[in-house]
Amino acid sequence: MIRNLLSIDDLDRAGIERILDRARSFAEVAGRDIKKVPALKGRTVVNLFYEASTRTSSSFELAAKRLSADVVSIRSAGSSVEKGESLRDTVQTLSAYAPAAIVIRSPYAGAATQVAGWTDAAVINAGDGKHEHPTQALLDVFTLTQALGRLEGRSIWIVGDVLHSRVARSGIIAFQRMGAQVTVCGPPTLIPRQIEALGCVRQTTLERLREADVVYVLRMQHERMHEAYVPSLREYTQRYQVNLARLRAGQVVMHPGPVNRGVELSGDAIDCDASLIGAQVRSGVAVRMAVLYELLVGVPALQAVA
Ligand code: NCD
Repeated sequence: MIRNLLSIDDLDRAGIERILDRARSFAEVAGRDIKKVPALKGRTVVNLFYEASTRTSSSFELAAKRLSADVVSIRSAGSSVEKGESLRDTVQTLSAYAPAAIVIRSPYAGAATQVAGWTDAAVINAGDGKHEHPTQALLDVFTLTQALGRLEGRSIWIVGDVLHSRVARSGIIAFQRMGAQVTVCGPPTLIPRQIEALGCVRQTTLERLREADVVYVLRMQHERMHEAYVPSLREYTQRYQVNLARLRAGQVVMHPGPVNRGVELSGDAIDCDASLIGAQVRSGVAVRMAVLYELLVGVPALQAVA
């Protein structure tokens, strides 16, 4: 049993599989009329979001509520963070409520690890700058195993702005841990120089995209770009947009959201039958329930929904 989830590296393959098993039982709860289990009754979960979020924040909130926890959700906009309160002081203030878990999203790499040093609560990294987004990687693995079965030997292409993507970093580690082969593809300026050290292959054109079983598209992350990485979005779109003309039958398409429709992914590809984008969002709740359960309760999966 682990105490915090700061990086996907905190989990070995057995740990990932344990969470996936539990997420499967929680996905069944989502199909019931009353979508609640009492696992975290009387415990408090604090969601602290210092950066824009729709899917991650709503699914963490729903996950904690479906486990019957008391939930406090704070966003930097409208909180004392705007008045200049430091992250450390905010965490100390919220610790007065003795939360069982703190979920943190921050624009700074390493923020979740820092928070873990300041609180007794279990800390979950919901995205720290360009660094990691471990629960996204888990929900992506969950979605893929639901759609394809085992990932062993599958070819997963991650296409787009890999340089600024915490989703890519966590995904590369998780997909490989589950036995898949990962190729990253994008303009050379948007692929980190040492990426092969993570065990993946680099491509700078989509020519061999047909070899992929899974095409995982990333958002162009304007908010993290402080210089020009591509000549123009139009040129990017011409060379790297994933669209139906570039896909073949049998491939599945993923994207963590939010999508720049018509930039990295065409509208028809977003909405096609091969798209798992909606399934990814659905998986988010069950997987985050499983992560909260793993950290705060941690008994075998069979008892998870008793
Ligand atoms: C991602 C994020 O915030 O890291 N979105 C998400 O969590 N679903 C990816 C992105 O913003 O492009």
